[in-house]
Amino acid sequence: MKFFIDTANLVQIKEANDLGILDGVTTNPTLMAREGIKGNDEILNHYKTICELVDGDISAEVLSITFDEMVAEGKILAAIHPKIVVKVPMTKDGIMAIKWFTDNGIKTNCTLVFSAGQAILAAKAGATYLSPFIGRLDDTNWDGVDLIAQIANIYAIQGFKTEILAASIRNPLHIIKCAEAGANVCTCPLDSILGLLKNPLTDIGLAKFLDDAKKM
Ligand code: E4P
Repeated sequence: MKFFIDTANLVQIKEANDLGILDGVTTNPTLMAREGIKGNDEILNHYKTICELVDGDISAEVLSITFDEMVAEGKILAAIHPKIVVKVPMTKDGIMAIKWFTDNGIKTNCTLVFSAGQAILAAKAGATYLSPFIGRLDDTNWDGVDLIAQIANIYAIQGFKTEILAASIRNPLHIIKCAEAGANVCTCPLDSILGLLKNPLTDIGLAKFLDDAKKM
């Protein structure tokens, strides 16, 4: 399973990248706005900086909602760097745009996915990645991880090549459960990635080893 970091914050991207386990980055308009990035030039430059920092796929989301505008915007985003994956919302125009990008050799990430039906459509359109939003489903009393398992089963039976990119991850347990359920990628906040490190028995064990090492 690949690890992406879900942020536009360069310090956090660098910290995750320095761990040596990072395979890519996802962003969205909320995450970009959180970093105070405004205006076309600043947005494009920020994506370029991320591409230069990380060796992997970098998702950049279109801000338009019609097919023609999404295609025009996606072409500009894809031209920033070969690592760019154009992130497209799960709408009728979005599906048409994903098909267009697929036919024209541009990688895509279909975002805002909340059902197996949407997952089938995105795969048919040739999406490179599919982003089911685990945490937001959990917030509505539906089990987000169950959706990952359902999509993984459908994609395996049907031989779809689209990679399942579990998004809206809120904690380390989400990562473990998504790995078990067959996600190809987890995109996570830095805290959730670092949370995987934690176990008090490791800390207690290390303290004892270091103490005993003084007696050696
Ligand atoms: C990433 O691709 C998604 O946009 C992101 O994971 C959404 O996360 P949120 O539900 O915490 O906003």
